[in-house]
Amino acid sequence: MHVLILGAAAGGGFPQWNCNCRLCHGVRNGSIEATPRTQSSIALSSDGERWLLCNASPDIRAQLCSNPELHPRKVPRDSGITGVLLVDGQIDHATGLLSLREGCPFDVWCTPNVHQDLSDGFPLFRMLEHWNGGLHWRPIGIDDDHREATFDLPDCPGLSFTAVALTSNAPPYSPRRGAPTPGDNIGLLIEDRQRGTQLFYAPGLGELDDRVRGFLGRADCVLVDGTLWHDDELIRAGVGQATGRDMGHLALAGEHGLLTELATLPQTTRRVLIHINNTNPILDEGSAERAALTRAGIEVAFDGMRLEV
Ligand code: MLT
Ligand code: MN
Ligand code: ZN
Repeated sequence: MHVLILGAAAGGGFPQWNCNCRLCHGVRNGSIEATPRTQSSIALSSDGERWLLCNASPDIRAQLCSNPELHPRKVPRDSGITGVLLVDGQIDHATGLLSLREGCPFDVWCTPNVHQDLSDGFPLFRMLEHWNGGLHWRPIGIDDDHREATFDLPDCPGLSFTAVALTSNAPPYSPRRGAPTPGDNIGLLIEDRQRGTQLFYAPGLGELDDRVRGFLGRADCVLVDGTLWHDDELIRAGVGQATGRDMGHLALAGEHGLLTELATLPQTTRRVLIHINNTNPILDEGSAERAALTRAGIEVAFDGMRLEV
């Protein structure tokens, strides 16, 4: 499968418009070696023609402009995007749907939890009904016992999807904020049936259990939550009060951090971090933290990166 990294940053992007942290300041004035990144989104395809957008970020217009694969080609109004899938209902992953209004109706795959939040607290589904039929909800039905769902997408031939319920958090406008239930956040195991390869994509990974470890261990490539280096990074940088745990993101560093987990994967697994927050020192290419990743064979996704899995 082909994977386009449209945006590799977490909510706010890098630099964030109102942030004067060391990294945002440094990338603006060139005092650190770092590359700006737009907000979290990828596109997937098995044939390079029909693309599934996974998460629609507020930066989608610029992302579509910079990726020729997604440009209109055949008829006067056209797009390489044949559908949208959301892994959660957060602003950084859903707001781009507003900018896709000219292309409605669109199929949008998401769980009932996400559909509820995007019909109520942040009512995108209801608003977009006014644009040519709006968004067609395609439910991802997470089974309570197995906490997963397997499905194919008609417009994405050659790929099979398993949605895996993750423990993270629901958005601030959700009635389940602070008490998420299965379906507020999912990871995706995507299999290219012809190649027999698998990608595990999880930009919001709050906790790992053996079930999630099993999916990570099966994948040829993992594209996972690189939001924070330290759990209390926002507090240390003086830009916020929330910890990674509060937001539903497992930090990279620490005894039980994500790096320890990634170190247990088979040597052949390609490891790539995505959804990087602007406070994360790995964005500074000259940092000790970035050097530690390089030594561990872990890559940091950037806008325009292409993965072949
Ligand atoms: C998150 O991933 O925790 C959210 O997207 C944060 C945000 O953008 O508000
Ligand atoms: Mn996010
Ligand atoms: Zn910043």
